Amino acid sequence: MSRAVVTGCAGFIGSHLTEKLLSQGWSVIGIDCLSPTYDTTRRRRVLDEIAADRDFEFIEGDIVQTDPRPLLEGADVVFHLAARPGVRASWSDFRVAADANILATQRLLDALADRPGIRLVFASSSSVYGSAESFPTYEDTPLAPISPYGVTKAACEALVGAYAAQTGLDVASLRYFTVYGPRQRSDMAFTKWISHALRSEPLPVYGDGSTVRDFTYVDDIVNASIACASCELEGHEVFNVAGGSPATLNDVLDMLSELVDTRIKVEYMDRERGDPDRTGGDTTKLHNATGWRPSWTLDEGLAAQVSWLRGVLGRR
Ligand SMILES: NC(=O)c1ccc[n+]([C@@H]2O[C@H](COP(=O)([O-])OP(=O)(O)OC[C@H]3O[C@@H](n4cnc5c(N)ncnc54)[C@H](O)[C@@H]3O)[C@@H](O)[C@H]2O)c1
Repeated sequence: MSRAVVTGCAGFIGSHLTEKLLSQGWSVIGIDCLSPTYDTTRRRRVLDEIAADRDFEFIEGDIVQTDPRPLLEGADVVFHLAARPGVRASWSDFRVAADANILATQRLLDALADRPGIRLVFASSSSVYGSAESFPTYEDTPLAPISPYGVTKAACEALVGAYAAQTGLDVASLRYFTVYGPRQRSDMAFTKWISHALRSEPLPVYGDGSTVRDFTYVDDIVNASIACASCELEGHEVFNVAGGSPATLNDVLDMLSELVDTRIKVEYMDRERGDPDRTGGDTTKLHNATGWRPSWTLDEGLAAQVSWLRGVLGRR
């Protein structure tokens, strides 16, 4: 049996990853500080549900404040997802983003430096590409982040590269492209939109709806992350993890109207700083290394998220 550490295990993606690892027979130790950014009660309940009768230990703590070394005892892989995600929050609260993203990653790398046998899978982001102009973006596309959040993730990748080169760590940095699905954070567009649509309230949309995102269903993200726990790696390798069916926000609104069976009203607002016009990632490198391909269409994934939120909000 393999043993994994999951940082950010109570979060949107971390909870799905933990759940899947446990269902595959892994032993998991998870750490999360349950940051007050959203739904701490629900996140705690989800952890209780997925941990029941499984080989799971939860440490409630902050990896900036806690020495991560004891967590690493006996571990084969560390999935490092703990972070302060979100472009918008990073403008107003850079200190928090810098601590939760850069400092936390450095602390973990420092602890891992003594344990070169442990594989690290690091959750990076498509935000590092920022204003890239040619699509799809490949892993060697020059980084051009346009938000403080993107800058923190680019800095983390550089830190990971430095530690890998100096200590012999094997690390896969995964550039996740806009992730959606059940348990998505409440500050993210789909959760906000579906909640408004189910309450028959107008939906807030930043910009005119023409921006394009390479949406990626959370289960595909989880499978890619687990595949990178055991693939051949030499030092630090970077991989895109993208859903493969880019769509405009207006396309999503049309799909959503059908799913909730009503023509939804939209309130268009000014574009937010740091939102790129378009994202789209090439995933050939990841496919060649692991055999991974995305398996969820946007239609299927959106339906799963609507069904989850209907349950959460008690709306038919
Ligand atoms: N959701 C997306 O679309 C997306 C896209 C690209 C990259 N990512 C990356 O994936 C990871 C997970 O994202 P998510 O959407 O699940 O976010 P999330 O906020 O739901 O989960 C992150 C978790 O990390 C915890 N955390 C934060 N700082 C911590 C610290 N110092 N110590 C311990 N725990 C801490 C939080 O409490 C939270 O539960 C993040 O690294 C994020 O940057 C997410």
